[in-house]
Amino acid sequence: MKKKIDNEEIVIASHNKGKVSEIKDLLKNYDLKILSSSDLGIEEPEENGSSFEENAIIKSSVTSALSKTVSLSDDSGLCVNALGGQPGIYSARWAGPDKDFLYAAEKIHENLLEKGADDYSAYFICVLAVSWPDGDHKVFKGRVDGTLSFPPRGDNGFGYDPIFTPLGYTHTFGEMEPEFKHSISHRNHAFNLFSKELLIEKQ
Ligand code: IMP
Repeated sequence: MKKKIDNEEIVIASHNKGKVSEIKDLLKNYDLKILSSSDLGIEEPEENGSSFEENAIIKSSVTSALSKTVSLSDDSGLCVNALGGQPGIYSARWAGPDKDFLYAAEKIHENLLEKGADDYSAYFICVLAVSWPDGDHKVFKGRVDGTLSFPPRGDNGFGYDPIFTPLGYTHTFGEMEPEFKHSISHRNHAFNLFSKELLIEKQ
């Protein structure tokens, strides 16, 4: 079994400010020095895997090899049931080079209207991958189910948050307080599995 990650440096393999801030919040009760790829000037590698798991491992292993420290990556996305799971691993790419998520949300809406879909159910997936400089890695997966609604609502969060309402709630992720969203998100579910196996809480 891999030894616990405690009292050491860990690099979050991402340049996405929203993601990095959510992961930092999740890691606040642990004795770790947290840096991101942006802090170290490490480029994000090309995500050419065919699944969330493959892409997460590509990001954490490349970052760990370059930084020579433990690296944590997150590959996540929104899967829309009526669209056969799209945008899925292409969630970031649907927003185009300008990372315009209002445009991406509109594209999803148009696709649903074109199909005449009445099923607006969707889910977010998050795969966290941890890589060690010796080449070893582990993955943890979380999911949250919900419904899409248009137009987008709320200015909090990032990405597709303003169109996603988790099951059992009436507010979109974009309308929720960030701490609350973090406590019920797909990232939190994956993070719980990761922390249970590999982290030690501060005393
Ligand atoms: P990647 O993991 O860097 O390929 O990007 C995942 C993309 O999925 C993000 O850019 C967001 O568009 C979307 N996404 C993942 N998690 C969330 C979330 O918690 N809220 C909103 N959008 C998300």
